[in-house]
Amino acid sequence: MELELAQNLLKRILILGGTGEARDLAGLLVTKPGLVVISSLAGRTEMPQMPLGLVRSGGFGGISGLRDYLAQQSISAVIDATHPFASTITEHGIQACQVAQIPYLRLTRPAWQPEAGDYWLVVHSHTEAAQEIPGRGNRIFLTIGRQELHHYRAVPGWFLMRMIDPPASGSEIPKGELRLERGPFALADELALLAAYRINLMVSKNSGGVATYSKIIAARQLQLPVIMIQRPEIPECEQVNTIHQAWDWLQGKLERSSSGNE
Ligand SMILES: NC(=O)c1ccc[n+]([C@@H]2O[C@H](COP(=O)([O-])OP(=O)(O)OC[C@H]3O[C@@H](n4cnc5c(N)ncnc54)[C@H](OP(=O)(O)O)[C@@H]3O)[C@@H](O)[C@H]2O)c1
Repeated sequence: MELELAQNLLKRILILGGTGEARDLAGLLVTKPGLVVISSLAGRTEMPQMPLGLVRSGGFGGISGLRDYLAQQSISAVIDATHPFASTITEHGIQACQVAQIPYLRLTRPAWQPEAGDYWLVVHSHTEAAQEIPGRGNRIFLTIGRQELHHYRAVPGWFLMRMIDPPASGSEIPKGELRLERGPFALADELALLAAYRINLMVSKNSGGVATYSKIIAARQLQLPVIMIQRPEIPECEQVNTIHQAWDWLQGKLERSSSGNE
């Protein structure tokens, strides 16, 4: 009976994860009393870096699947710390929380901003990025992960493609070489890589954060043009940039719900 009572007092928090920030947040929240922290991973990476706390893996089955999961697991709040380009799960999270009337927060790293010496061409999609390559470079460093490579399949040129896991077998990818690596990457290594492969154009998503920023600094130092893909738009929602801001938000929500104001 006492155990049941204690469990009822615990607040169950769902982190939509798959990023370093999500792992850091889980590491912070598991130290806080009264919380059960569940991280959700999409389940696509072969050897994911595991967060502290409980972990579940695989899609929920759309908005309704996520809404059902929130109810079944008695989730008190959702913090979406997925990658800035993972916009489908973010839209699902926002909508499922609205229906379930559960507080939702987006934790996202700020986008990179161009600095003096950067030569960026800003585009809004992979289709646009692929169209812009001809005439700008023919030895291209394509650092967009493995899911969107098909957009570049017919683009003339030679591609150095960096990602964590290889593309699915049979997927259509451009001509070039795969480099399977997980960041963070050191500036000296990025400079050496760009020189060794005689890269004359980079294509990058504006992911933000520090783990992969050294390639942007390297491009600046080598005066290399970068085709920079902007983040997808997401519906309006509460957002913060750091795990400590996320904790402040969560405390506020939990205090309000325990005082009966929400
Ligand atoms: N996109 C990137 O560039 C990128 C880079 C680094 C890491 N990641 C991480 O990789 C994962 C997948 O990214 P994506 O761009 O493929 O996502 P997405 O396009 O936004 O989502 C596609 C579907 O994958 C499932 N899903 C995605 N993230 C999930 C999560 N954390 N937990 C449970 N299900 C999830 C959902 O399936 P259901 O509809 O069945 O629920 C979602 O509808 C995310 O966790 C993201 O943080 C993405």
